Amino acid sequence: MKIGVFDSGFGGLTIYRSIRENLPQYDYLYLGDNARTPYGSRSFEAIFRFTTECVRFLFSLDCKLIIIACNTASAKALRSIQQKILPANFPNRRVLGIIRPSVEELGKDTKTKTAALWATDGTVRSDSFGIEIAKYAPGIRLIQTACPMLVPLVEAGELNNQGADYFIQKYWNETAALADDIDLLLLACTHYPLLLPRIRVIVPKNVRILVQSDFVIPSLVDYLRRHPEIESTLSRGGSQRFLTTDHTEGFDRLAEVFLGHPVESENISV
Ligand code: DGL
Repeated sequence: MKIGVFDSGFGGLTIYRSIRENLPQYDYLYLGDNARTPYGSRSFEAIFRFTTECVRFLFSLDCKLIIIACNTASAKALRSIQQKILPANFPNRRVLGIIRPSVEELGKDTKTKTAALWATDGTVRSDSFGIEIAKYAPGIRLIQTACPMLVPLVEAGELNNQGADYFIQKYWNETAALADDIDLLLLACTHYPLLLPRIRVIVPKNVRILVQSDFVIPSLVDYLRRHPEIESTLSRGGSQRFLTTDHTEGFDRLAEVFLGHPVESENISV
């Protein structure tokens, strides 16, 4: 059986890339719901429905374990899928998100106890990171800023220009206005790591910038070690398939930017 990696579109490829580099032995299916992206501004009900459809589809293609490599879907759909869909329909399959490992890392790394987070509007409004921080890293003040222009900038390939700098500066100004002792900034959206070189130039040097793939991968490795009943069912062919709900030309073009190598995707409907 395979490992499925799901995202609303391309962004999850930043997480998938690191997963595959670190665990190349398994067989992977990546599914991007490009036809309905972005999820960032959609309702809870829509994101839950879209994510559940994609999870069911990946299960139908023999995925044992699915990583929801999308913060917005992790924030709005993961808990309900784990609590309602899996026990009733897929008791032996697992779905993991990327919020909890991020929160554990925030808790360890801030010295001032004031951390900032940049994410989509949907993730910020759900306050999923705030709720998890209260559970796993209590005592930390979390400054959350929605950065709605950053996903469209990345999707349009506008990574290295003054337009990107304008919005990064604007969002940093909004963040910094809310607290003067921030020592960490978590990029809690799959697309933002592609803007990391620009963000590093604009955000002050004393603020450490955290990228989720750095701790999602160790957390996944640890999960597989602690769950041999899952790990032992995973096939080891080293294969990868890329599936998209939209047209393949567009997927292949942008996936190359995210992955650094050419890709041949397949169009599917969930
Ligand atoms: N993948 C989404 C996330 O990490 C960003 C793109 C979207 O809004 O769908 O929040």
